[in-house]
Amino acid sequence: MPKKRIGILTGGRDCPGLNAVIRAAVRAAREHDFDVAGVQLGFEGLLTRAVVPLTTETIRGILPKGGTLLRTTNRGNPFEFPDGHGGCADRSAEVVENIRELGLDGLIAIGGDGTLRIAQRLCDMGIPIVAVPKTIDNDLAATDYTFGFHTAVAVATEAVDRLHTTAESHDRVMILEVMGRNCGWIALFAGLAGGADIILIPEIPYSPDEIARSIRERQREGSKFDIVVVAEGAKRVGGAEKYLDVATRRLGGIAYQVAGDIAEQIDLEIRVTVLGHIQRGGSPIAFDRILATRFGKAAADLIAAGDFGKMVALRGDAVCAVPIRDAVSNPKYVDPDGQMVATARSVGVSFGDGR
Ligand code: F6P
Repeated sequence: MPKKRIGILTGGRDCPGLNAVIRAAVRAAREHDFDVAGVQLGFEGLLTRAVVPLTTETIRGILPKGGTLLRTTNRGNPFEFPDGHGGCADRSAEVVENIRELGLDGLIAIGGDGTLRIAQRLCDMGIPIVAVPKTIDNDLAATDYTFGFHTAVAVATEAVDRLHTTAESHDRVMILEVMGRNCGWIALFAGLAGGADIILIPEIPYSPDEIARSIRERQREGSKFDIVVVAEGAKRVGGAEKYLDVATRRLGGIAYQVAGDIAEQIDLEIRVTVLGHIQRGGSPIAFDRILATRFGKAAADLIAAGDFGKMVALRGDAVCAVPIRDAVSNPKYVDPDGQMVATARSVGVSFGDGR
């Protein structure tokens, strides 16, 4: 029997741990006696047939490296591929054809919700795909955690720690804006880990008056500074998200809005830091390396078992497989009445909602 050949691609935005998944999948594929082809630039590489052989030699040393060896793009959706004239074309049939031409018996697609949606549609067209979820935002309900999230939290926590020293020295309100799209996980985790006084998340709309009130209350209690961690997708009660670019729905700038909203109501100086892509770059922490390694191995095993249309996921301590279809239909928001928020409130965190 000819040796089986599988492909691996990374789609959407980069995330710490992508290389660790690739490495583990290639190593596990060796156990199954598969050849592995790395598809470059996500699904776009299946249109241009940009593939490179992945062997234990070519992946050497990539475990601690951020980004992705295979490169990635969030503009490579073959169902809506840019036609070069400002429009889009459905080129999915070419992808199906190229997968056959390249002799791929299975494909591991590593990506966030956009990649998972494309993977599901290609599965529906008969392509044997297994998916691996990635995102620093941790916003997929099908898995307890995505790799990359804890690295982003660690970076954001360090930023909170560093801002604390300036806040304390200068009696200032330091506002840190973190990523997370429309979910407040990074802000909540980093805010709790860093001892923030105020955490603003999309799931709990804030009132500027309440933020100012909580800052003044802390002043009355003797604290002369405040640390505010705000998720990029946070919004005022009755307000809307703040976009850097409305057309592409790229979030950003809410920290400046919060600063402006409260400036007149408090007598402390305010400074804003937008952490940006620092929290998505660089080396994954140990937790994410291990999770990514477990996901990569599990994905290769699913391919070997012919169990397609599945996504690997972490449930409790176990890595399991769930239908991709279920994973994409279910975003994971912070529960405003959940234990994490309750814990934060009980240690004195304000969510700017007056509770
Ligand atoms: O989904 C990951 C993420 O980093 C979000 O937290 C953020 O909103 C977005 O990507 C930023 O995207 P870009 O890299 O295109 O600016």
